[in-house]
Amino acid sequence: MATRRKPSAAPTRAPVRDAKLRRLLVAALAARQRAWAPYSNYQVGAAVLGDDGRVYAGCNVENGSYGACLCAERNAVGQAIARGARRIVAAAVVTPSSPPAPPCGICLQTFAELADGSLPVLLANPEDEERTLTLDELLPHRFDASALPG
Ligand code: THU
Repeated sequence: MATRRKPSAAPTRAPVRDAKLRRLLVAALAARQRAWAPYSNYQVGAAVLGDDGRVYAGCNVENGSYGACLCAERNAVGQAIARGARRIVAAAVVTPSSPPAPPCGICLQTFAELADGSLPVLLANPEDEERTLTLDELLPHRFDASALPG
């Protein structure tokens, strides 16, 4: 049963046409099955495509000390970087929400460190609702290293 959220851009139920996003969706759905979410009961799966052409997936990992919770997206990015990817070229996130929920701000900022603004982020839920937004659309005014002195 999907959690209802205030509707924004309407998602569609058409099959995901882009092959790489479809691949990421399959990986994110599988990772979501392994979510550790005993406190929120809100299971999230994410997958990213690295610049090495490989798919890296992650799920949320909650903790009884709530501040230690790890989001699925940052878990997936961690897997990618630890295994040698240097950039992220596409992403997919599966939540139980309807419409499918976007990543939190910290996860978007993590994507921004490693991806261009054109990064496609597929948002989906297990009911086959989906929509794709770019990182520019999701986090238009973001901090980046160019703001740092030197
Ligand atoms: N969560 C994610 O995994 N990704 C997000 O972008 C937002 C929230 C997780 C964290 C927590 O385990 C649960 O969803 C409820 O907030």
